[in-house]
Amino acid sequence: MSAMTAEGRTVITIDGPAASGKSTVARLLADRLGIAYVSSGLLYRAATHVALRSNVELTDEEAVVTLLRSHEVALEPDPSGNRVRVDGVDVTAELHTDAIDVAVSTVARHARVRAWVTERLREVRGSFVIDGRDMGTAVFPQASVKFFLTADPEVRAARRAGERSGELRQVAERLRRRDEQDARQSAPAPDAIFLDTGPLTLEEVVERVLQDVRAALPLGAVER
Ligand code: C5P
Repeated sequence: MSAMTAEGRTVITIDGPAASGKSTVARLLADRLGIAYVSSGLLYRAATHVALRSNVELTDEEAVVTLLRSHEVALEPDPSGNRVRVDGVDVTAELHTDAIDVAVSTVARHARVRAWVTERLREVRGSFVIDGRDMGTAVFPQASVKFFLTADPEVRAARRAGERSGELRQVAERLRRRDEQDARQSAPAPDAIFLDTGPLTLEEVVERVLQDVRAALPLGAVER
């Protein structure tokens, strides 16, 4: 693992399945390090939002990509949670719904949608912590430190049930289906540090991740 990317900045990737805790951990880690937090999933959710709103066939890659190119989609990294604007309008509050959860994997499967998201993420300047599925593999293979968070399906379903509507069984089934559909882009990087978040509290996960970051990066490289 190199301490810095080629551009002389620090990029820390946190990949893992839905509800593994990656976005909360990524946000807290970024805050502790005093660098930006970037959510890649939010761009896939924004693409899905635009597609659902326009009634294009989600399986029609050409139509989805053409639609995306006709809108200005901007991701604004923010320590308290990222915001997304579509043509200047903040749509963030509409991106974590059951409808988007169910549709997002279909949109994310298209290679040209993935290229569109990757393009946007590579435009982000400076140091940051970023979460997703393929951040340490396809998007930032030169990242400074890479993590892959896991947790048992039951643990993840219980967590997600607290955030979404529906019974635990239904939430678990939706997660299982999304895992299956996301499997292709979710292989861990060979040099990622694995962490099972199931038996740990959030504070313990953040402490463990911080320890690994301190061990991997030169003293004082990023911490404030
Ligand atoms: O991380 P989050 O649950 O918000 O991601 C939403 C969806 O976006 C995932 O289920 C997946 O289909 C897609 N995604 C992806 N690659 C990423 C991040 C998210 O395919 N790096």
